[in-house]
Amino acid sequence: MYFIDEKELDAIRAVFERKRLFRYQPDEGGECDLFEREFERYLPVPHSLLVTSGTNALIAALKSGGIGPGDEVIIPAYTFVATAAAVAQVGAVPVIANIDETLGISPSDIEAKLSSRTRALLPVHMDGLAADMNAITRLAQSRQLLLIEDVAQAIGGSFQGRKLGTLGDFGCFSLNENKNISCGEGGIVTATSRARYENLFCQHDVSAQYNPVKSRFFVETRPFLGSSMRISEISGAIMRVQLSRLDEILRLLRERKAIYREALAGLRQVRLITGNCSEGDCGSSIHLLCSDPGYAIQAGQALRNAGYLFAPVTTRPAHAAWKWLPLLDKEPAPRGQAPNQMAHFLQSVDVLTRVLRLETDIHKSLAATQTDARSVRHILESL
Ligand SMILES: Cc1ncc(COP(=O)(O)O)c(C=O)c1O
Repeated sequence: MYFIDEKELDAIRAVFERKRLFRYQPDEGGECDLFEREFERYLPVPHSLLVTSGTNALIAALKSGGIGPGDEVIIPAYTFVATAAAVAQVGAVPVIANIDETLGISPSDIEAKLSSRTRALLPVHMDGLAADMNAITRLAQSRQLLLIEDVAQAIGGSFQGRKLGTLGDFGCFSLNENKNISCGEGGIVTATSRARYENLFCQHDVSAQYNPVKSRFFVETRPFLGSSMRISEISGAIMRVQLSRLDEILRLLRERKAIYREALAGLRQVRLITGNCSEGDCGSSIHLLCSDPGYAIQAGQALRNAGYLFAPVTTRPAHAAWKWLPLLDKEPAPRGQAPNQMAHFLQSVDVLTRVLRLETDIHKSLAATQTDARSVRHILESL
């Protein structure tokens, strides 16, 4: 959470004063309803729904899109464990495709991993960087696959002028603590079709079809085995304030990343990663892509010794396929052996072992950021 102050407190106080904490009341227009309409206008997208987490957003999207046992869903080798877990939770099989040097899923490796059981593509916009949505959308359309964007780490980011989370059938956002905007815990799912939104609605509220108050949500009710992922008015109220802060947060992040981009241009052994759309990059992470893993270790050490906390992305606890694959492999690998799918994502190991990452600090002044970026350049040049 980058900013939280009296504005959020006032919004929560108003909810308490209305004595209305549960979002579904006979009348519309509570905080969650208002947030969803504001978020739809912000992106823009036809439908959005608040849920309890980003993981549940993914589960809701997969289930609402009809993904289940026997289906394969292609996900990238660099993502948080939740992406893979959500696919497994609906009984489908996560098939891992390599990432490339943009840190996004590689469209050519998606093609290599397609099978007759593939039902969905699930690209992830990691660390605020857009995946290659032109190539991925083309693939999804030509194979009639469901396209779900995992936008957990990139709310407000865009690809060629269109906001992330509006380019596929569903967009799944997380609102937990480490995101561009947050209410502590929560998620949002966007949907481009009305029928899929109605499925989402049943998924997030198990009794939705039985409640006359909610009948207005359905053009036509059909059986759908749902769950319970409703969020309270307190979270909705916080999120309305947080959304009003989003563009300013993105501006501050991008401004600081641009300073690093300029300061580190033209280095021999390092370049900055900006994903598949540098203007749409949220700017929340500064990634150095090094020429080789040995140099990355040396550079990382030198930078950290000087107080610049660039960490190897491979040390992130749950963010690469080899960290979570043992959870998903039905047949655990024999002792001392790599999990079965390991050989399929060596290209990702090659990229990730060369990447150092620093979280952008928007509370640092522009002048201090400039001094840091110059000093980082100096350290890298002196190696
Ligand atoms: C890429 C990605 N997908 C999904 C999630 C799951 O979100 P949540 O923690 O809100 O369940 C996260 C959370 O950090 C994430 O980074």
